[in-house]
Amino acid sequence: MKIAIGSDHGGFALKEVILAYLSTLEHDIQDVGCFNNESVDYPVFADLVCEMVAKGEVDKGILICGTGIGMSMAANKLPGIRAALCSEQYTARMSREHNDANILCMGERVTGPGVAEEIVSTWLSTPFEGGRHLCRIQLFS
Ligand code: RB5
Repeated sequence: MKIAIGSDHGGFALKEVILAYLSTLEHDIQDVGCFNNESVDYPVFADLVCEMVAKGEVDKGILICGTGIGMSMAANKLPGIRAALCSEQYTARMSREHNDANILCMGERVTGPGVAEEIVSTWLSTPFEGGRHLCRIQLFS
């Protein structure tokens, strides 16, 4: 799977954890930054990842900031994006099964590295159920 990942400074350390985890799996990863702890604006990185998803350059995107809230707000303003802010596995699974989320958002200051890896694993491996859920996401797409 092709995956784009981005963070601001508040999510940089967790992004590094998730990159290390993803490197153990067979995915094609594109890291759009940020690349250190210096303060940056999270919408810039949300735009970069979401544009790649919306254009079909990658299959899915992962965005991380301090809380995940700013990234999810910024991502969901963009056409074709269904971003889900997840802090545990249940919502990660449901965001795929029912909402066909194409962006996963997490907060480094909320979710620890072990849980974050489980969220990513579940989110990437869970298919969309389609059916009645397709009509529903089409109502807001
Ligand atoms: C940065 O301090 C922080 O505001 C940002 O990472 C994010 O949590 C915003 O929603």
